[in-house]
Amino acid sequence: MKKEISESRIVFIGICVVMMATSIFIFTKSLSQERSSISNELFAKKVSGTEAVFPDIAQEKEVFALAGKAKLLGKQSTYSSSERTLSNFYKRRAYPGAPPKIPHEVQPDMVGGNNCLTCHDNGGYVAKFSAYTPVTPHPGMENCRQCHVPETTDALFQETDWNTFDPPEIGHSALHGSPPPIPHSLQLRGNCLACHGGAAAVREIRSSHPERINCRQCHVYMK
Ligand code: HEC
Ligand code: HEC
Ligand code: HEC
Ligand code: HEC
Repeated sequence: MKKEISESRIVFIGICVVMMATSIFIFTKSLSQERSSISNELFAKKVSGTEAVFPDIAQEKEVFALAGKAKLLGKQSTYSSSERTLSNFYKRRAYPGAPPKIPHEVQPDMVGGNNCLTCHDNGGYVAKFSAYTPVTPHPGMENCRQCHVPETTDALFQETDWNTFDPPEIGHSALHGSPPPIPHSLQLRGNCLACHGGAAAVREIRSSHPERINCRQCHVYMK
């Protein structure tokens, strides 16, 4: 009697082991298939040049555009009287996400490219305008005046009831001292250090650690 029980137990344990091995095999196989199909899809989008479909994934090139200057930006900590604040930042924009107007004189034939990038690619202090130059957050776009225009009148072309809306709030860290999430869209905001590092960065959002160049390793995107 005793012998019979232990035999059927061995058979039972054997079946369990086989079933467990099978399910682990099926599970890992389907997991790896799922992964490769995702990366294949991403790759296909990349090679066909439509990576903009994934604005919050495919912006590595922009994110690291200022990596070589990160240390320098970290040293530019002398706050001048012309320091920018969030409210100044938004005063030049029709609404959060809109291109700021050009606040300084520009020659009519200065359309973009190096005319603007001599200053806006590197930043730095311009005595003539008594201000630090904000670095362009989208280094790939060169036809600047397609989107940025100087203000030429105070009046409206036509009456309108348009109102702007509030920008997203800052300071939503999960715990005291943990990295706050990115509260804004990344459209035309790929070059993080342009706005978050150096003397031209807005005071409230100037990062204390521009040298940690891989921002999105710690800061996640908040939808
Ligand atoms: C001589 C250097 C220099 C050149 C050339 C220059 N800029 Fe600027 N730009 C500045 C400085 C400095 C500021 C900051 C001015 C301030 O805040 O009062 C600025 C501010 C701006 C801003 C406002 C950014 C913001 O968020 O407030 C825009 C937009 C801009 N420039 C666009 C352009 C365009 C487009 C061109 C080319 C047609 C150009 N700039 C050429 C130095 C320059
Ligand atoms: C396709 C439209 C477009 C083009 C072209 C473009 N910009 Fe912009 N730019 C924007 C928008 C939109 C913003 C606002 C981003 C935001 O605040 O979310 C912006 C923001 C900026 C800022 C503000 C950064 C800050 O810290 O406040 C600067 C400076 C700037 N652009 C410079 C340039 C220069 C210089 C060029 C050309 C070399 C250029 N832009 C080309 C749309 C454009
Ligand atoms: C055109 C300028 C600009 C660019 C480029 C930009 N940001 Fe921001 N960021 C802002 C502004 C302005 C705020 C404040 C909220 C708002 O108004 O959108 C902000 C807020 C944040 C905050 C929240 C800070 C806090 O104290 O809660 C984080 C984190 C952040 N950004 C990370 C990033 C990262 C990472 C990138 C690059 C992928 C980036 N930002 C690119 C302008 C910018
Ligand atoms: C290794 C992780 C890590 C990386 C990488 C990182 N951050 Fe942070 N960040 C943090 C933490 C943690 C805080 C919160 C600090 C605190 O509360 O004292 C923070 C805070 C911030 C803030 C709020 C203001 C401040 O300095 O406290 C901004 C803005 C910011 N980071 C932007 C950036 C940008 C832009 C980059 C890339 C150039 C970046 N961070 C890279 C961990 C990181």
